[in-house]
Amino acid sequence: MNKFQIITLFPDYFTSPLKEGLLGRAFKEGLMEVSFSNPRQFTQDGRVDDYPFGGGDSMILSYTPLKQSLESFTKKGYVVYPSPQGRPWSARKARIFAKHPLITLICGRYGGVDERFIRDSVDEEISLGDYVLNGGEAAVLTLLESLSRFIPGVLGNEKSAEEESFEGIGLLEGPQWTRPRSIEGHQIPEVLFSGHHEKIKNFRFFASLVLTALKRPELITDFSLQKRLSKAQQALKALSSEELRALGLRPVDLERSDFFTNGL
Ligand code: ADE
Repeated sequence: MNKFQIITLFPDYFTSPLKEGLLGRAFKEGLMEVSFSNPRQFTQDGRVDDYPFGGGDSMILSYTPLKQSLESFTKKGYVVYPSPQGRPWSARKARIFAKHPLITLICGRYGGVDERFIRDSVDEEISLGDYVLNGGEAAVLTLLESLSRFIPGVLGNEKSAEEESFEGIGLLEGPQWTRPRSIEGHQIPEVLFSGHHEKIKNFRFFASLVLTALKRPELITDFSLQKRLSKAQQALKALSSEELRALGLRPVDLERSDFFTNGL
C-alpha cells in the first residue's frame, strides 16, 4: 500500500479527481491511501502568508503553519515540494516514487514558500516543466496520476505502463485506432489487419521510432536507436501515401537524415 499525505490550503480541490477513473479505483481498493492537512488550521487568525522580505507583490507561505501542518502527521515519509525550481519530473522518477511507502506532498501557493521550510523539511523539489502554476495542487495531482501507474494493481493490465510513451526504450507511443474501421475516408495501415503479430510489432516500433525522431529527436539518445532509424524509414516507404498520412507522416519525412542536428 502506498500512502500519501497532502499539505494544502485547498483540500476540496482533490475531492473529485481522487474519486474518478483509475486513481479513484486505486483509492477505493486500498492500493493507495491519502490524508490531508491544511496549514490554515494551525494559525490563530487564519493568516498563512506574508509579503517577501526585500519587497515584492507575491505572497509567500509562512514557515510556521507549514511546519505545524507537517508535524501534525505521525510520520513524514519522503517530503516532496512541487515547484518550478525542482528537478524535472519524468516516468523514470514516477517509477521510483511509486516504491516509497509514504510520501508527503506540499502544495505551494502564491509566490512560493518560505525557503527555511524547504531547507528544514523538504527532501526533494520537483518541477513539471518550465512554466508556473498558480499553486501546487495541479502538480500534486499530476504526480499522483503518473506514479500510480507504477503501483502494482493500479492498471488492470500490468504491461500497459511499460508499453507507453517514455517507458521501455523511451520512445513516444505510436498512433492507435479502433472501430469502426471506416470513417470519412480515413485509411488505417493495412498491416494492423493482417493478424501477423511479428509484422505488426515491427510496424509499431518503426512508426514510433520515426515519429519520435520527428517530434522529439532529443529523446533518441541511444546510438542503436539512431542506427535503426534509417531502417525504420526504409520500412515505412512500403506504405501507401494514405497510410502514411494516417500516421501524420509525409513521404519527405522518410528521406530526412537531419533529425539529430536540426529536430523540428
Ligand atoms: N508549482 C508551480 N509551478 C510549478 C511547476 N512548474 N512544477 C511543479 N510545481 C509547480
